[in-house]
Amino acid sequence: MTIVEFRERAENHKRAASVALSGALDEASFEAAKTSVWSRSVQQSFSKLLGELPITERPEAGRVFNDLRAHIDALLAEASIYFAVSEGASQAGRSLDLTMPARERWRGAKHPVTLVIDEIVAIFREIGFTVALGPESESEWYNFSALNFPPDHPAMDMHDTLYLGEGALLRTHTSPVQVRTLQRHAPPLRILAPGTGFRRDPFDASHAPAFAQIEGLAVDEGTSFVALKATLTHFAQKFFGKTRTRFRPSYFPFTEPSAEMDVECRLCGGVGCSACKGTGWMEILGSGMVHPSVLEAAGVDSERYTGWAFGMGPARIAMLRYGLPDIRLLYDSDVRFLAQVAE
Ligand code: PHE
Repeated sequence: MTIVEFRERAENHKRAASVALSGALDEASFEAAKTSVWSRSVQQSFSKLLGELPITERPEAGRVFNDLRAHIDALLAEASIYFAVSEGASQAGRSLDLTMPARERWRGAKHPVTLVIDEIVAIFREIGFTVALGPESESEWYNFSALNFPPDHPAMDMHDTLYLGEGALLRTHTSPVQVRTLQRHAPPLRILAPGTGFRRDPFDASHAPAFAQIEGLAVDEGTSFVALKATLTHFAQKFFGKTRTRFRPSYFPFTEPSAEMDVECRLCGGVGCSACKGTGWMEILGSGMVHPSVLEAAGVDSERYTGWAFGMGPARIAMLRYGLPDIRLLYDSDVRFLAQVAE
């Protein structure tokens, strides 16, 4: 006896049991079939076969046997419900309605935004990034000051959020994780920090007041904008397949120079459509060279080290991936929608 043969016997018995039970059209023949498909002697013969297997294969055979038992239990339960129902129905003078839709069995699945985050993390892990996390309730210092936002700078207008008292607020981005990580780990380092950000934004087709974000940070001696561009282009190609990318100058207080990266519009392939407002491009992230004063705030010698960082919105990226017209679909938790994308 080998484990392969054992598995085959179990599969054969499953099939035989299905045939025997589906042939039972009344309760008496069901009772008879029930005894024959899972009789003592059937069980004994399986444990005897199991005993003939080499010791190393027995745990696996045990699992096969348990799976067989569970399968037969399920068949029996299904069949006995059938007889109970049909008996009840005939007692009530009605016949059994076989056209009634079966009850659906719901399976849990990952949310599309989680799927996208997992995929992004996997791509960056492959090239040496590790995952870091930070708190959602953050201090003003980590969220703003350490990130080189001068007090009352207009850049903060886009970062209005809920203040929780005693200098705490709901973080407006995942960038504070840059500082927290650098305080705890000496460079060289490469991290990816997925998390949630919060802003006083309207809940509209492209904004959510609580949104997923992924931060990336690399700090080393001599790392440059070349590495930033190469890494992010590599990411875009891995995630979207062959695509053109472009970098546009931008502004963030914590990076200098700063750039936003666009990929070719997924919907029109770069020709220009309503989704990309006729430009043929879609923005997927903000990035730049870490500002020396951010490195200094985190206690890193900015004469010796350079760094680059980026921040992207996995929900926006999920919209591109699945061709969604409205970000609210991803945050409304409507199972009718989610079930179409779930894996
Ligand atoms: N934190 C920026 C935002 O939320 C994104 C970003 C991260 C930009 C890192 C540059 C570098 O808009």
